[in-house]
Order: sequence, then structure tokens, then C-alpha cells
Amino acid sequence: MNDTSTQPRVLIFDTTLRDGEQSPGATMTHDEKLEIATALDDMGVDIIEAGFPIASEGDFAAVSEIAKLAKSAQICGLARANFKDIDRCWEAVKHAARPRIHTFIGTSPLHRAIPNLDMDQMAERIHETVTHARNLCDNVQWSPMDATRTEHDYLCRVVEIAIKAGATTINIPDTVGYTAPRESAALIRMLLERVPGADDIIFATHCHNDLGMATANSLAAVEAGARQIECTINGLGERAGNTALEEVVMALKVRNDIMPYQTGVDTTKIMAISRRVATVSGFAVQFNKAIVGKNAFAHESGIHQDGMLKNRETFEVMRPEDVGLSASTLPLGKHSGRAALRAKMNDLGFDLADNQLNDAFVRFKALADRKKEVFDDDLIALIHDSATTAADNVLQVKRLRVVCGTDGPQEAELTLSIEGVDHSIDATGDGPVDAAFNAVKMLYPHKARLQLYQVQAVTEGTDAQATVSVRLEEDGNIATGQSADTDTIVASVRAYVNALNRLILRRERSEMGYDSKEVSYKDVP
Ligand code: KIV
Ligand code: ZN
Repeated sequence: MNDTSTQPRVLIFDTTLRDGEQSPGATMTHDEKLEIATALDDMGVDIIEAGFPIASEGDFAAVSEIAKLAKSAQICGLARANFKDIDRCWEAVKHAARPRIHTFIGTSPLHRAIPNLDMDQMAERIHETVTHARNLCDNVQWSPMDATRTEHDYLCRVVEIAIKAGATTINIPDTVGYTAPRESAALIRMLLERVPGADDIIFATHCHNDLGMATANSLAAVEAGARQIECTINGLGERAGNTALEEVVMALKVRNDIMPYQTGVDTTKIMAISRRVATVSGFAVQFNKAIVGKNAFAHESGIHQDGMLKNRETFEVMRPEDVGLSASTLPLGKHSGRAALRAKMNDLGFDLADNQLNDAFVRFKALADRKKEVFDDDLIALIHDSATTAADNVLQVKRLRVVCGTDGPQEAELTLSIEGVDHSIDATGDGPVDAAFNAVKMLYPHKARLQLYQVQAVTEGTDAQATVSVRLEEDGNIATGQSADTDTIVASVRAYVNALNRLILRRERSEMGYDSKEVSYKDVP
């Protein structure tokens, strides 16, 4: 293992709550954003981009609160290149011990055409807005959006203007995921060589994964001199997503022999935050995803298992414990007590308060009655499930009974509590899930459209729990609900009802002008 303490530090800038959250369907609630920000802060992320404060009252409130609660991370907000956005951003981030304003404008020919500014007018706008931001805050990041498709001479010119106006970090976004590693490195090198003052600031790399090269492009930029990587947990983000935090951080750790740079991230916290982001965003992690996928450390083939038993390094370049996967995967059973559950939860990265442990214990006992062995993944599903079924939800599933068979139609009898009053109905459908969803619609009529229905087995075996995700859309509002149960139909209906509850909450908040996004970062200022 290399001594990393003297190596150059690469700052990790996490934008899960801004670039990740703006991916359609990934919207998080206020409390979920605070929870994720706290976890990012705890794991040693250097900068958290907490949102886009001008976008909505909800974004503003989330950024302000995250700014107040952050212990060590710098808290950053996004602002387009105008004074109103920048002022609003400052109002939100100024509560942080270490605030940062991130302002940007699209500089490539295609992006310049949108606000209809010529090169000189845009250069003037950059000078004015960065100067304004710097008058408010001594920590200013500036981004030429679509930098990788911007003419080099013009890019050098505007980067120099931003540095002279006081930007302390210059971020080079590959907005459309177009660049490749050699080009990504050459661009940073070119800027370092040609732009006066470039040595006095930090260059950042911000890559999208459209061609599957985001991680490679980010690391290539670091080798060329970038000292900040912008990334998201699980690579969450629009289209093919952003650079995945876990991939760049683990690559720098595992291949420190050829990439001698240190980060401040505690990698043992990776799995816990990855699971949480997957749950709250509703974007499940693909099984074979690097570092955090369910199969990333699974060795199923006979040859692999044999090799692993002899020497782990035969097929493993890192240890599961390094990313926070429990070393012991011994299952719990119905005789396991509260202390065993607490110890296991701590092992899995959950620090439960006494009331949360009591709730988890009741659920665990109920699960252990139905399932012989309760595995780590079962417990994680159980904890995430209890976090989504708050007692004050408008809708609650009270009772469900379905009749299935080869000679359909399938029938569902459902009792749903709506604002505390129980209502029951029988419905039929094309399959048990359809019948049960029809029953929900009959008891609680709504216009929401089903965008996604996804079922995943949590563990192996026919008594495995199923985790179900349901994404609904109504009038542009999108909400995702999840639930886990050994009964797939029960999990499906609960997930559906959870999504409806979130939609109701979102509707109420947007009626109050709280969550409806008035602008997107793509709107021209
Ligand atoms: O991808 C991008 O260009 C962005 C900017 C706002 C930095 O996310
Ligand atoms: Zn981006």
C-alpha cells in the first residue's frame, strides 16, 4: 500500500443533489436531500453541490439548510450567468461555514446561439457575472458549459477572463459526454499551458457518460493537472449519467501505484450511501455496475470460487470491506435478538436511534417468521422500506387479498385507509398486479400515469423478498415509490401507494409554490 499522505490531493465535488437530482424521475424530497448531504459530508466529500437555488422555493430551502448543517464540506449552489441567479444562490449558500457559488454559461457555438450573444458580448457577460459572484463570496467556481466542443482559442480567452474576474475554480464540463480520455487530458494541459493565471486556480473536470467514458475522461483530466473531479453517487444524472463517485475514488485508491493522488473520501461509506441514493432516487443500481453493483463482489462460477478460497487476490482487486460491504454475511434468524440486529445494522452502516431500532426489530421479527434466513440485503430493504412508510401518509394499505389462477381474470380485495378512514373494494385485472392497482385507482381516483414498474429479488431463493419500484407522473410531477416484501403483489401495491403519497405531497408543495421548478439550468438567463 502506497503512502498517500504526500501525494497531490484531488478534490471530490459531488453533484448528486444538483446534476443527479435533475435527471427526470430522480427527484428527492427535502428530508432525503438533507439525509444524503449529511452522508456525503460524513464520508469526506470536499464540496457538495446542493442544488440550484433559483429553480424553486424547494431547491432554495434545501440548499440553505444543507449549508447550515454541513460540518466540513464546502456547500455550493448553481447559478446561471445573471445577477438574479447569483444573488439567490448566495442567499442560500451564505449560511455555510465554507460557501461556494458556481456560475456557468454555455460557450460552444451551439450554446452561444441560444442567448444570441456574440463572442464579445458573452465575454463581457462572463466578466460581469464572475465579478459580481466574487464580490459576494471569495470561493467562486465558473464553468464554460459544453467546454469540450468550444473553440480552443475562445475557451482560453473566456477562462482567462473568469480567472481575472476572481474565479477560484474553473470547471471544464463535457456536457454531452462527447470527449475521450486522450482529448480530455489534452484540453486540461492546453489550458494550463496557455491561460495566464491558470497555475493559481484549480481546474475541475465534469464528465457525462454518454459514450461510457466519464470515469476514464475524469481520470485522464487528473493526470493532466485537474485537481477536482465532479461526480455523483451511482453515476446518477441525466441521460447516461455523470462520472460515478465510487468509480473514480476507488480507481485512485486501488491503482494508486500508477495514479498517485489522494482523496479525502472514506471509502468504507460507499455502499451505504449508494444504496440510499438508489432508494430515494428510484434509480436501481445495475447488478454488474462497477464497485456498487450486487455482483461486483460475487464469485459464482466454480473456478472463481476455488481461486477465491485459495487466495482472494486471484479474482478480486479490492476487498469488499474497502467499500463498506460487511465482511461477515452470516444471516440472522427468528431467534436472533435485538443486540444481534443492532450489531448487524452497525456493520451495514446504519446507526439507528432506539425508536428506529425498535421499529426495525418488529419488522425483522415479522420477516423472520416468514423467511428462514434473513440476509444483509433483506435487512437493508427492510430499513429502506420503513423509511418510506410514514404514519402520516394520506394513503395506507391496510389489507390486500388476491386471487390468481390459470382461468383469470385475477381479483383483488383491497382495504385502503384514505386520510385515516378505511375504504374497501374488489377489482379485477389482467394479472394480480393489474387487479390490485385497479383497486387502488377505484378507491383513490387519480390521473397519474405509470412510467415504471420494476421488480427485483433482494436475495436468492423462492422465499426471497422482492423490491418493487413504481414511478408515476401527473401534470409534470414525477414521484417514485418503493417497497419490499416476500409477497411481490403486496410490495407492488405498497410501492404504488408510496408513489401516490409522494405525488400528493409534491402536488401540495407545488400548489404552495414550493417545489414547482420555475426554471431549469438549461433555460437561458
Ligand atoms: O454538464 C454541465 O455542463 C453542467 C454545468 C451546469 C456545469 O452540469
Ligand atoms: Zn452536468
